[in-house]
Amino acid sequence: MKEIKTVGILTSGGDAPGMNACIRSVTRASICAGWKVFAIYRGWEGLIHDEVREFTTESVSSIIQRGGTILKTARSEEFRTPEGRGKAYRTMQKYGIDALIVIGGNGSLAGAQAIAQEYDVPVIGIPGTIDNDLFGTDSTIGYDTALNTIVECVDKIRDTATSHDRIFFVEVMGRDAGFLAQNSAIAAGAEAAIIPEDSTDIDQLANFISRGIRKSKNSSIVLVSEKDGGAMHYAERVRKEYPQYDVKVSILGHLQRGGKPTAFDRILASRFGVASVEALKEGQRNIMVAIRNDQIEYVPIARAIKIDKPIDRELINVLSILSI
Ligand code: F6P
Repeated sequence: MKEIKTVGILTSGGDAPGMNACIRSVTRASICAGWKVFAIYRGWEGLIHDEVREFTTESVSSIIQRGGTILKTARSEEFRTPEGRGKAYRTMQKYGIDALIVIGGNGSLAGAQAIAQEYDVPVIGIPGTIDNDLFGTDSTIGYDTALNTIVECVDKIRDTATSHDRIFFVEVMGRDAGFLAQNSAIAAGAEAAIIPEDSTDIDQLANFISRGIRKSKNSSIVLVSEKDGGAMHYAERVRKEYPQYDVKVSILGHLQRGGKPTAFDRILASRFGVASVEALKEGQRNIMVAIRNDQIEYVPIARAIKIDKPIDRELINVLSILSI
């Protein structure tokens, strides 16, 4: 296999707090390995359109504490086409980039796999998404920060919910996954969570109402995953089916993605960055760096993006027991 002398790094898809800590880590670990580092701006879009700059150790100074991504990010339609990937590969050739390190979620890693297969490029994926929905890793960069942000918001919502005796449906992100909703519900002491993983056979709303939560409490908070109409859908149903209740909706939106990364995310991102460079040094390719039981592991990208990450049923049980 060709010796690696130059790596390209990019962030793609939705930004996540901790991505900057990871960019810093990949850059410095690569320079330590004696490699050149090219930063690619605006994800796959920037690779197609030649938005590339060489990074030094100073390029990543004072970024570990910052949210977002200094490399910027994009969702690229053009990269989904073979022509787009061809252009991206030509940019790699122009700068002599031997391998790519890609920080992002499911879609970003699917893109990484496509270019790796078509052009025989070594690619290492780093899970960076607030959704925590990549198979094979306990955590993704940004998830812990987003979870803490949500909990802080729900604590505030509870003050007004209690004062007015209201039911609040609080909608959180997660795309098709309920990790943010389920765990923020536990952490904020909410009465219920409505998540995609638990929606197959039971009506979660009817279940919540029928358990008589309102008999013992004057206010309730229900965390709802954004999927299928989200909080608005459930609020409307309650207004129709149980008009006696005073119902409000709060959609947290993109504020969940912003802010300083937590210490957990900074450490995770720093470990992932170094591990991605170690993986390339060992000759690994087309894998995603992962963490399981606090140990770094490598998962084939194909598995990480194809298999649905299950939610631990124990979490559902914990919330249900504690919300009586
Ligand atoms: O994947 C991260 C995420 O924040 C999802 O939770 C959400 O569904 C999506 O991105 C929103 O994307 P955008 O910022 O492009 O609207």
